[in-house]
Amino acid sequence: MSVLNALQQRNSHGKLTDPGPDGDQLQAIVGAGLRAPDHGRLRPWHFVAIQGDRRDALGALFAKALQLSRPGATEAELSKARAAPLRAPLIIAGLLKPVAHPKVPRVEQVAAVACALHGMSLAAESQGFGAMWRTGWYAQDAIVLDGLGGSPGDEVIGFLYLGTRKGESKPLLQPELDDYLTLY
Ligand SMILES: Cc1cc2nc3c(=O)[nH]c(=O)nc-3n(C[C@H](O)[C@H](O)[C@H](O)COP(=O)(O)O)c2cc1C
Repeated sequence: MSVLNALQQRNSHGKLTDPGPDGDQLQAIVGAGLRAPDHGRLRPWHFVAIQGDRRDALGALFAKALQLSRPGATEAELSKARAAPLRAPLIIAGLLKPVAHPKVPRVEQVAAVACALHGMSLAAESQGFGAMWRTGWYAQDAIVLDGLGGSPGDEVIGFLYLGTRKGESKPLLQPELDDYLTLY
């Protein structure tokens, strides 16, 4: 698959099953992400890969965070939170770890982490896997951030769900270039 094809054909896939990327495949995915454009080469990021039984631990963290932030959460809401990480065999959480810099504002560092996650999703697709970037309330929760090894001021930019596609792919969106591009 050429880079151009991968970019043009990329399509998120929500239903992901075993096998997920592992070993060399996972290394290749993360290595591709770490080549993202990054102003000042600040490396303002950290990535956490969660797979196998550790997904249950992440689900327990989501449920604990929900319980603490909303003590009235129903059992159905708590089990949904517990099961959320089971939607794919592998999840990569992308954390922004901002670096104070006179020329590189936070927004540019967020962009670098986002580019890294997008690079990882393309690297997964190019190896035949499906990917879906998710956030939800989990990404903005301080307890989830702490459980993933983040510090106050850090931020979860995305959870990249990765695995083997199950079911039909969504039709590709074919945006009209003229709606989004002006030749100046
Ligand atoms: C920062 C970010 C956060 C997202 N969060 C969610 C999410 O929580 N749930 C969801 O269903 N899609 C989320 N998406 C969108 C999907 O990953 C996907 O891009 C969207 O469904 C459109 O499908 P496509 O990528 O195949 O065009 C998010 C995308 C981005 C860039």
